[in-house]
Amino acid sequence: MEPARIDLAVIGGTGLYKLAQLQDVDTQQPVTRYGAPSGPIRIGTLGGRRVAFLARHGEGHSLPPHQINYRANLAALQALGAQRVLALNTVGGITERYGPRVLACPDQLIDYTWGRVSTICEVDAEGRGGGEVIHVDFGEPYARSLRQAVIAAAAQANVAMVDGGCYGATQGPRLETRAEIARMRRDGCDLVGMTGMPEAGLARELGLDYACLAIVANWAAGAGPDPDEVITLQDVLDHVAAATAELPRLLETL
Ligand code: HPA
Repeated sequence: MEPARIDLAVIGGTGLYKLAQLQDVDTQQPVTRYGAPSGPIRIGTLGGRRVAFLARHGEGHSLPPHQINYRANLAALQALGAQRVLALNTVGGITERYGPRVLACPDQLIDYTWGRVSTICEVDAEGRGGGEVIHVDFGEPYARSLRQAVIAAAAQANVAMVDGGCYGATQGPRLETRAEIARMRRDGCDLVGMTGMPEAGLARELGLDYACLAIVANWAAGAGPDPDEVITLQDVLDHVAAATAELPRLLETL
C-alpha cells in the first residue's frame, strides 16, 4: 500500500531536537535497506498539513556528523510518504551577511567531507545491489521550488532570511582552523557546517526535493570581528535558540 502523503519532512540539526507545534503526533521508526534512521520520526499536523520531523543527531544528540546514517534517514522519510525535505542545519558564518543568528537558504554547496557513505549506488562484496549507476545532475544542489517556497514563506511570515549563499560541508566533529576557513572563503563559501553533505546529494539520488535552512550559530574560526574568539558549545546553543524563535511561524506559513 502506498503510504499516506507527508506534505513536508523536516530534519532538525544541532539544538533542534523537536517540533513543539506538531499536533496529533504518531511516531514511527522504519528500518530501511540502509539500516535504521537516527531516531523516531514524529508525524503530525502543522498548519493543517502532515509534517514529519526527524532529529538528525538523534533526540539526545548522540550521533556525530560523520556517523549519521544519512541514507537511512532519507529513505525512512521517503518510505513514510515524504517527497519534500527541509533540512535545518546549524552552521558557522564566514562572509559578512552571515553573522550569528542569521537564517539563510543557501543555493550552492562545496563538499569537503571524506570517508562518508555518500551514494546509494553500490555493489556489495557479493556483487549484489548493483543496478544502474546514476550520475545525477547536481549543478543546482537544492530544489529550486522548495527554496522559493521557503523564501516566500519567510517574507510572508516577516522572518528575515538571506536568499542564497554557498554552504561548505566539513568533516568535523572538530571545528575548523582559521586557515581552513580562510581557504573556504577564497573558495566562495559563505557558511560552514558538518551535516550538509552527503545529505543533499543522497536526497537528489533518491529523487527527493530538498532544501537547506541554515541557522548561523557563530562566526566561523577567524571570520568574526574578534579573530581570537573561541567558539563554545554554549554560544552555539544560545544563538541557535535565539535564531529559531521565529522558526515555528515560518514553518507554519510554509
Ligand atoms: N563550523 C562547522 N560547523 C558548525 C560551526 C562551525 O563554525 N558552527 C556550527 N556548526
